[in-house]
Amino acid sequence: MNKGKPTRRDVLAAIPALGLSGLLPAATFAQNGMPMRRIPGTDESLPIIGLGSSKPVAQIAERGPGPLENVLRALVANGGRVVDTWPRNPSNDAAFGKVISQPDLRDRLFVASKIDRTGRDEGIRQFRDTLRLYNRDTIDLLQVISLTDLDTQWANLKDFREQGAVRYIGVTVSTRRLYEPLERFLDKEKPDFVQVNYSISEREAEKRMLPLLQERGIAVIINRPFMNGALFAQLGDTPVPEWATEFECRTWAEFSLKYILPHPAITCVLTETSNPDHMHENSRAAFGRMPDATERRRMAEVMDALQPGG
Ligand SMILES: NC(=O)c1ccc[n+]([C@@H]2O[C@H](COP(=O)([O-])OP(=O)(O)OC[C@H]3O[C@@H](n4cnc5c(N)ncnc54)[C@H](OP(=O)(O)O)[C@@H]3O)[C@@H](O)[C@H]2O)c1
Repeated sequence: MNKGKPTRRDVLAAIPALGLSGLLPAATFAQNGMPMRRIPGTDESLPIIGLGSSKPVAQIAERGPGPLENVLRALVANGGRVVDTWPRNPSNDAAFGKVISQPDLRDRLFVASKIDRTGRDEGIRQFRDTLRLYNRDTIDLLQVISLTDLDTQWANLKDFREQGAVRYIGVTVSTRRLYEPLERFLDKEKPDFVQVNYSISEREAEKRMLPLLQERGIAVIINRPFMNGALFAQLGDTPVPEWATEFECRTWAEFSLKYILPHPAITCVLTETSNPDHMHENSRAAFGRMPDATERRRMAEVMDALQPGG
């Protein structure tokens, strides 16, 4: 284990100036490997774009596991590994487990799941069900969802890690309303990971949570990079500024991701989609030049002007 903050070398390695993404599918140049970020305090690194699988897993009941498998394979084709999920019901979870257990995916994925129950025994039962339905002895990362029943479930998570049934433990928030309780929790505990919402149009985490997490040496996973799709609804047909092509960005999805990704506190950004083309597009944002500080300021100004009341 290599304790400490990401070095300047790590950060630079994660932001390579490849300068060749253009409109090519990211898979075309994924042989260079998706840029990675180190999990603070370890020698393990994760690719910087992951899949938030809530929607395709929820859709298994109506559409079967095909769409989930297709987006996961699109992620992997681009060098991605991180899949974040959340137990739903035994039938959907077993189907998810079957997809992630396929021989070529099984050892490749970094699987993150959550506990959403109240009460010690309920939390233990949910985790046992997760291991059984995902057909695994170990989950890479287990998180307390939205700080639910935090004291009880955090004690459970520490036990699971101690027993070797999870490799890393963490907590999630997806709204600024939970930043204060999260800060109180961080005063007394040090999770391996914190998942927090951050996007070009929801930037509160930038000033408040990200510097704190970086300073504490905690790995950061970002959720809501597109505000669960609301970003696209707000923008409608507005064209992406021409100058964004200077850092190889032609869509609003890339615009939001390329705004987020340069932040040095961030380990991985989840994008949720059930569309493989969107997974390719989102992965493409990991490659190529990233905007510099001046360009990021300009991007934020554009977004503020386009938002309601902006
Ligand atoms: N409390 C928590 O723990 C919590 C809360 C929220 C989220 N999360 C995690 O974060 C993940 C991400 O979810 P989110 O809510 O944050 O969603 P998001 O990634 O901000 O947005 C997802 C929406 O954007 C659309 N989309 C994705 N890529 C696109 C693209 N390239 N072009 C156009 N549309 C695109 C998707 O539709 P298509 O399917 O059509 O692409 C979907 O409707 C979740 O799956 C979950 O893992 C955790």
